[in-house]
Amino acid sequence: METIRGKKSLEVDFSGWKDRLGTYNRVLLDLGTGDGRYVRTLAEAHPDWFVIGVDACRENLHEHSRAKLQNMLFIIAEAQDLPCELHGLVSHVAINFPWGSLLESLLTGDPALLHGLESVARAAASFDLRLNGGALTEAGTTLEAGAELIHNNILRAGWQVKAPVTMNASALRSFPSTWAKRLAFGRDPRAIALNGYIK
Ligand SMILES: C[S@@+](CC[C@H](N)C(=O)[O-])C[C@H]1O[C@@H](n2cnc3c(N)ncnc32)[C@H](O)[C@@H]1O
Repeated sequence: METIRGKKSLEVDFSGWKDRLGTYNRVLLDLGTGDGRYVRTLAEAHPDWFVIGVDACRENLHEHSRAKLQNMLFIIAEAQDLPCELHGLVSHVAINFPWGSLLESLLTGDPALLHGLESVARAAASFDLRLNGGALTEAGTTLEAGAELIHNNILRAGWQVKAPVTMNASALRSFPSTWAKRLAFGRDPRAIALNGYIK
């Protein structure tokens, strides 16, 4: 499994990690983590959580992955092909403001993504998904229609989903990720959050 710290890529042997991660109250996976700011903020605020950021793109991760925190790890991987080393370890999944093939997989209910997340999830694992208007418009739909499609795909996969929650510019401003801040001050500061349980 390829991990990154600063500009250095490291192959990490995950054997033995199951025991180590078992000592944390929550193991959170942030999929499509971008520059990893959300992961770093949570890892600093919650030393009793282990926080993992995954992204297909390594260039944006150099700054935040450098922070010397024992409870934080960044992995370079495609969301549709998560490392098997993570299987059964994750208690919470966050996907914040996805775009590109990550968003496309949510819109089509891609089994490679949804089954992959089910495999990495522990029993009673929860999720938070935050979708923004601009990304869904670029994907050829609207915020409301795209969120409803994704809501239905997730329900069809057997996950439990609560009622959608709207995020306005003020909610985006206070959300600790780089993309949320950009959206808050951009042309379309609207998002919809879906949350619930994977299993
Ligand atoms: C708009 S950015 C959001 C970044 C971050 N979550 C935030 O809130 O600041 C979307 C991210 O999804 C990542 N992404 C898109 N498709 C992906 C895929 N198939 N696998 C992993 N990451 C993906 C992109 O590389 C990008 O970093």
